[in-house]
Amino acid sequence: MGKTLRIGAIGWGLRGGLAAIANRPEDDAELVALADLSPAAHAKFKERMGDDKYVTTNYLDLLDQNLDAVFVMSPDWLHEEHACTLLAAGMNIYLEKPMAITTEGCDRILETAKSSGSKLFVGHNMRHFGVVQKIKQWIDEGKIGEVKAGWCRHFVSYGGDAYFRDWHADRTKSTGLLLQKGAHDIDVLHWLCGGYSETVSAIGDLSVYGKITDRLKPDESIKVEFRKVWPPSSLDKLNSVVDVEDINMMLMKLNNGVLASYQQCHYTPDAWRNYTIIGSEGRIENFGDSPGKSVVRMWNQNHQGYVEKGDLEYEVPVATGGHGGADELIVGEFLDFLRSGTTSVTSPIAARQSVAAGVAATQSVRSGGAVVQVPPVAPDLTEYFK
Ligand SMILES: NC(=O)c1ccc[n+]([C@@H]2O[C@H](COP(=O)([O-])OP(=O)(O)OC[C@H]3O[C@@H](n4cnc5c(N)ncnc54)[C@H](O)[C@@H]3O)[C@@H](O)[C@H]2O)c1
Repeated sequence: MGKTLRIGAIGWGLRGGLAAIANRPEDDAELVALADLSPAAHAKFKERMGDDKYVTTNYLDLLDQNLDAVFVMSPDWLHEEHACTLLAAGMNIYLEKPMAITTEGCDRILETAKSSGSKLFVGHNMRHFGVVQKIKQWIDEGKIGEVKAGWCRHFVSYGGDAYFRDWHADRTKSTGLLLQKGAHDIDVLHWLCGGYSETVSAIGDLSVYGKITDRLKPDESIKVEFRKVWPPSSLDKLNSVVDVEDINMMLMKLNNGVLASYQQCHYTPDAWRNYTIIGSEGRIENFGDSPGKSVVRMWNQNHQGYVEKGDLEYEVPVATGGHGGADELIVGEFLDFLRSGTTSVTSPIAARQSVAAGVAATQSVRSGGAVVQVPPVAPDLTEYFK
């Protein structure tokens, strides 16, 4: 047993439960403090973690709490300020995705981590999804030859409730959902395809939710819940500002020559991600993405016509925990990182690259689909975070 890590958190909203996973006294880690503007969040935190825990409205107070690390789970537009301030003060952080809402913001975070030496970990939990792990394993084993293309179709049935009734719908706070939500999948595509986007182009539209006139007042907020409202056009109480796209289609050319695409729709009847990875000698595809309810299939023999089950099939086993057990795995990875300084599957540079591609694609959407260059990472930062 080593020294018990003292952990704090900023933000106890929908994502608050993530930091609760870090409360592992048996693993020498304890969640001891929260900063959140909302008294309701303080109450929820104390109810779950204990009355003796420290709470504050000012995140700077966390710096006086003798903490080893802080989970930054504030809304996206605050990530840059919160991350840079904590890192510069010598605090290690777990930063939720997306790293920031601009590429410049990500670079500032990377530079601050480099100059302060504080540990930076970005929470791309999807790399721990059972489906994604299996696809990655088969690619790495060479089962489909050299990867040439990666496609992701992303169906988000809960998009209206989750993203159009609060800050996510306002581009000044999220940039857009191609970045906000897409950062996960762009990162996964980069990882599976072994490169980063160099150029992107995209089209998108605010095609359903923009027509809903029932809106909250600018100073009004509601508790966001995932309801079963159907059809999506009957949703009520949308955010006062709704200016992000609800459907997006993005093309990427990666720096290793791989071609990729990401398509996202926020008003589908079902919710899952379909990845298709095509190599020089086969292809892999998943059906469903929840543990216990999904399969990954691979075709690497020549077939005439449709062969449903492929040449190899993997049923993703049941797993418990947040995001199909990925949250428990990534928090474990973070605690190991605090102790050893090494990560297993995530990377701050990759997190920056997913934001940079998402931002560039959003620019493309808003300029009629033009091809946009993704700004490269400074070589000294790539070297530092290797
Ligand atoms: N990795 C994942 O799977 C995943 C899933 C959901 C959300 N997220 C990310 O987690 C973050 C939080 O998302 P959420 O859905 O919980 O948002 P939320 O809006 O539900 O909660 C944010 C919380 O931050 C608090 N807050 C706002 N401003 C603050 C400030 N200045 N100081 C301290 N607290 C402040 C709010 O009061 C609120 O309690 C986002 O960046 C989101 O992208 C990641």
